[in-house]
Amino acid sequence: MFCLGGLSLSMLVSCRNNVLKMSCSQLVVDRIDPLVNPGVLGSPHLHQLVGGNSLNATMDPNNNPGELSTCTTCTFPDDFSNYWTAVMYFRARNGTYKRVKQVGAIGSETARGGGITVYYLAPHKDPTNIVPFRDGFRMRNGDSSVRNATSASRFQGIDYTCLVREDTRYTNRSATFPDHMCPMGILTTIYFPPCWDGINLDSPDHYSHVSWPTEADYNDGAPCPATHPVKIPQIIFEVQWDTREFNTPELWPEEPGTQPFVWSFGDAKGYGHHGDYIFGWTGGVLSKAFSDDEGCLGPGNMLCELNMQSIEKAIQCMMETSVREEVDGWLEKMPGGVEAEP
Ligand SMILES: *[C@@H]1O[C@H](CO)[C@@H](O)[C@H](O)[C@H]1NC(C)=O
Ligand SMILES: *[C@@H]1O[C@H](CO)[C@@H](O)[C@H](O)[C@H]1NC(C)=O
Ligand SMILES: *[C@@H]1O[C@H](CO)[C@@H](O)[C@H](O)[C@H]1NC(C)=O
Ligand SMILES: *[C@@H]1O[C@H](CO)[C@@H](O)[C@H](O)[C@H]1NC(C)=O
Repeated sequence: MFCLGGLSLSMLVSCRNNVLKMSCSQLVVDRIDPLVNPGVLGSPHLHQLVGGNSLNATMDPNNNPGELSTCTTCTFPDDFSNYWTAVMYFRARNGTYKRVKQVGAIGSETARGGGITVYYLAPHKDPTNIVPFRDGFRMRNGDSSVRNATSASRFQGIDYTCLVREDTRYTNRSATFPDHMCPMGILTTIYFPPCWDGINLDSPDHYSHVSWPTEADYNDGAPCPATHPVKIPQIIFEVQWDTREFNTPELWPEEPGTQPFVWSFGDAKGYGHHGDYIFGWTGGVLSKAFSDDEGCLGPGNMLCELNMQSIEKAIQCMMETSVREEVDGWLEKMPGGVEAEP
């Protein structure tokens, strides 16, 4: 068994055998958004995307990434899923933008471009009857159009951690960009809904076919609502933004209470942060990991061996960007002509 819970999530789930933790190097930083703008080369804003290399702007639901990919940037070579988030920029006093560097999570420092640390969680209390997705499943959490707490309340599980130490967790949290300098950078976390309607692999908003437990925490065995009765693994993204080079008062905006970071979609508050997922595990490997009798994450807590690849191997998997444009350096506007909103 490789309870990879490790340092970061272990404080939450007390690292029993109920979590798969994986490091996913960046596959590409590109202006595509396969779920929200399928087929569009030059989506409204820039993303970082990780996972299987069958990724493209279209991602027709009839195509199986597990069959079309030849490599993945993630820890488990049987996982050709794709995971993506927006990217963060720093806005200087002179109005130009610089992309904020990312770093890999603890233990994944060599991940290319920092990437995304992805967790698949089974409830600690009752890890039975978890349906580990189906081919064609996709979902997202959060929405780039959200700009205030009222609208954001439709979503759950999206927040910011001001890193005091690299392993700061469950404290120094906020629903928006921290309004003060964070000594070790900013961690953004997206928990995905762990309840599914059991029928639809997707929905028009990519969100309505999934939902949240009726009470308390999925991890504590909370039941799913009758509308979405099927428990799925809870997916969690962690992304660490290395804002340290900007931790100088002279670089921060002069107006008190404001901060200099902005998402690639123009949101300088942070309520619009979002993440996307397309399932792409192959060979029934994820189902086996979660199965009740022989799974390493199920109640049996069996020893099981999932193939793993090193980060050195994973970073050999890469892609060309489909939209050629400047995304780094000091930019007058962010890619797509996006500017920070007041
Ligand atoms: C994406 O890949 C699929 C499958 O290979 C292909 O049919 C489609 O044309 C590709 N889309 C783009 C925009 O390249
Ligand atoms: C804008 O400000 C940044 C940060 O101080 C600086 O590095 C950059 O050179 C400036 N650009 C211009 C055009 O002045
Ligand atoms: C929040 O945003 C929504 C639309 O995004 C808007 O309709 C609503 O008035 C806003 N609420 C507040 C309190 O600003
Ligand atoms: C972190 O939280 C502690 C306790 O609330 C607080 O004293 C400290 O100032 C916070 N630090 C940062 C950098 O947010």
